Amino acid sequence: MNPIILVVGARPNFMKIAPILAELSAREVPTILLHTGQHYDENMSKVFFDDLGMKEPEIHLGVGSGSHASQTATVMVEFEKVCNKHQPSMVVVVGDVNSTLACSIVCAKSLIPCAHVEAGLRSFDRQMPEEINRILTDSVANLLLTPSADGDDNLRGEGVAEERIHRVGNIMIDSLFENVKKAESSTIHKDLELKGEYALLTLHRPSNVDDQETFTRIIEALEEIAKDLEIVFPIHPRTRKMAKSFGLFERLEKIPGIHITEPIGYLDFVSLMAKSKLVLTDSGGLQEETTALGVPCLTLRENTERPITVTEGTNTIVGTDKELIINLSKEVVMNGGKSGRIPDLWDGKTAGRIADVILKYIES
Ligand code: UD1
Repeated sequence: MNPIILVVGARPNFMKIAPILAELSAREVPTILLHTGQHYDENMSKVFFDDLGMKEPEIHLGVGSGSHASQTATVMVEFEKVCNKHQPSMVVVVGDVNSTLACSIVCAKSLIPCAHVEAGLRSFDRQMPEEINRILTDSVANLLLTPSADGDDNLRGEGVAEERIHRVGNIMIDSLFENVKKAESSTIHKDLELKGEYALLTLHRPSNVDDQETFTRIIEALEEIAKDLEIVFPIHPRTRKMAKSFGLFERLEKIPGIHITEPIGYLDFVSLMAKSKLVLTDSGGLQEETTALGVPCLTLRENTERPITVTEGTNTIVGTDKELIINLSKEVVMNGGKSGRIPDLWDGKTAGRIADVILKYIES
């Protein structure tokens, strides 16, 4: 059997590929781990391989940062060469980043079967680059592996044939459940000298951090929230760059009780998330992880591609209205916030179901 190529590119891909790689390796299936290099800083990439115990990628495309067009195109050019050389029996792409889209298009044109893990999610907001990546990847991938029923419904609504849709559950939760115990030995709380309850904050969406007015409004809300809670803010490189360019970085640093850190590795981050009073975020993955951990999450976006975290989980879509962010945060501090249930098939066994579907497809 020719190898299965597993593609990683950006930070949220690593914890999705790790359990699939482990499952395929346990079944003695030949694999090639390929890193596009979309994320390249040690703390955006290498630390995750160490924390997740994942092998070094056999192939590194080294594409780095760039505009959407140049980054996507560079991955395509380089990935096509890899496909020509290795003739994989299948390519597995995850999530919704530029690397996901680029590799899925190459597969479609090279007639190589492609499986998209985390298929079917839709925010219905085409201003998000990830929404374009999701729609296009799903339109060309052969196997659409969805985390929840809303994903199946979205795909059916787009006219996707039933045999391409396979509900396998949430792969991120495999990594979370696998590592949550291990994360208990993290020293991050001590290292940051956290004294009591804290909110964990992440921000990196262009709609929040590339827009000065929105970014300022969020900072104003943080200034108020910090009166009740310490805030831990591992800052994404995009966010740091934009805060500096708007002259907002000093204002952020001056918020009493805020801990601004470099991006944090997987185990330390899981530890911070699990013990936080509240998570404030514009990330997609954190909406899911907080639901699985039972931690209240306030999402600083107008929409979500993960509605099940709202209907069943601990997530509330808040948007970026200053007063609303403040009031809902205070509500969580006072009343403990929303409790929820863990959605079906978010059970830590998704990698096994993915391997079953992929191997059956290759055999047939
Ligand atoms: C990308 C994904 C986004 C995902 C996020 C997670 C796309 C379109 N976006 O957004 O869906 O939620 O990753 O982090 O694929 N940079 C560094 N070091 C790095 C990587 C990036 O300094 O290792 C800086 C560069 O200045 C770069 C900027 O961050 O220009 C943005 O990086 P990019 O990969 O373009 O997008 P993200 O905002 O990280």
